[in-house]
Amino acid sequence: MKKTITLQVNAAKPQAEFIEQAAAVIRRGGLVAFPTETVYGLGADALNEAAVQKIFVAKGRPADNPLIVHVCSRQMLDRVASRVSAAAEALIARFWEGPLTLVLPRSEALAQTVSAGLTTVAVRMPSHPMALALLAAADTPIAAPSANRSGRPSPTTAAHVLEDLDGRIEMVLDGGTTPIGIESTVIDMTADVPLILRPGWITREAIEAVIGEVRQAASPDELKRSPGTRYRHYSPRARVILVEVPKAAEDRGEAAARLQHLCRELLETGKVALLSHTPVVIDDANFTTLRLENSATDYARRIYAALRELDERRPDVIVVEGIGETHEGAAVMERLRRAASTTVTSDE
Ligand code: TXA
Ligand code: MG
Repeated sequence: MKKTITLQVNAAKPQAEFIEQAAAVIRRGGLVAFPTETVYGLGADALNEAAVQKIFVAKGRPADNPLIVHVCSRQMLDRVASRVSAAAEALIARFWEGPLTLVLPRSEALAQTVSAGLTTVAVRMPSHPMALALLAAADTPIAAPSANRSGRPSPTTAAHVLEDLDGRIEMVLDGGTTPIGIESTVIDMTADVPLILRPGWITREAIEAVIGEVRQAASPDELKRSPGTRYRHYSPRARVILVEVPKAAEDRGEAAARLQHLCRELLETGKVALLSHTPVVIDDANFTTLRLENSATDYARRIYAALRELDERRPDVIVVEGIGETHEGAAVMERLRRAASTTVTSDE
């Protein structure tokens, strides 16, 4: 067990002495969790093989699941990627710094395990001032997966990081709640037609507006290109049932009645937690609920924290009401499907 140091940092104007302390940990091969605009990342020097291996140990991450490398400048990108295509350049110009990860051919300098045996590297330039300050001070690309134990919901606060990794990492930079709340979009730029491996805040439509047609990974063969998608993810301890919103417009009264019916049925066999945008009232000591707004922005920002919070109330099942699947909603629903063991559609 190590003692994990937590530093409270001003997110908008990170104090130089704290950033320097964290950068020193990275430079000597240690692990630092830090906020990005999406979720907290667990960082190590991407050029240091031993340091990168510590990430896999701390998270309990399968060795065949590669990591995202973070950079803060074009020179740093050129240290990790051996080639940047014209289409990749166009996406960089439009979306960096920001929540878009590009899969590019990797350079030799990169630690082997970062790519888990692949010939490519997933790389992004985050927009969070603390992430950028840390990268600049460490002066090395930083490999950072989400800072959760493997299989747990991604952390959107420093407290979530400590829940999962206290005593397993050197340091956490606490910069408050991460603004977006779900992980970056991952797009494979080495495929003939660029392939979205993981949907995210940058939508397919926004990408296509810049580089023309892209595809969304769907077949098992395509998903093999993104090893992360093979694993069940984002899961709280309780069983999760996702209720998809019906395609046809439905009034709120109907939706509430439907959710209430499902929850009552489940209450016959155990404790039930409901996470929804439709308000549902059930007077039962075994029932607990959390409300979100019916928007992709609010769901993205609060979904992982809400799943952790409800899970702490120790229900047997968590019922989650979905949102519409257009634009950013698609990325939110992908996370919810992966957390869920059962998905029910309400168009019976
Ligand atoms: O928003 C984010 O992307 C956050 C923050 C910390 O930057 N990071 C994150 O990392 O979500 P992680 O490790 O939890 O997810 C990385 C995803 C996985 O699905 C992994 O399989 C995929 O990216 N990936 C990494 N390298 C890859 C590669 N060379 N080829 C294909 N997929 C890759
Ligand atoms: Mg992750």
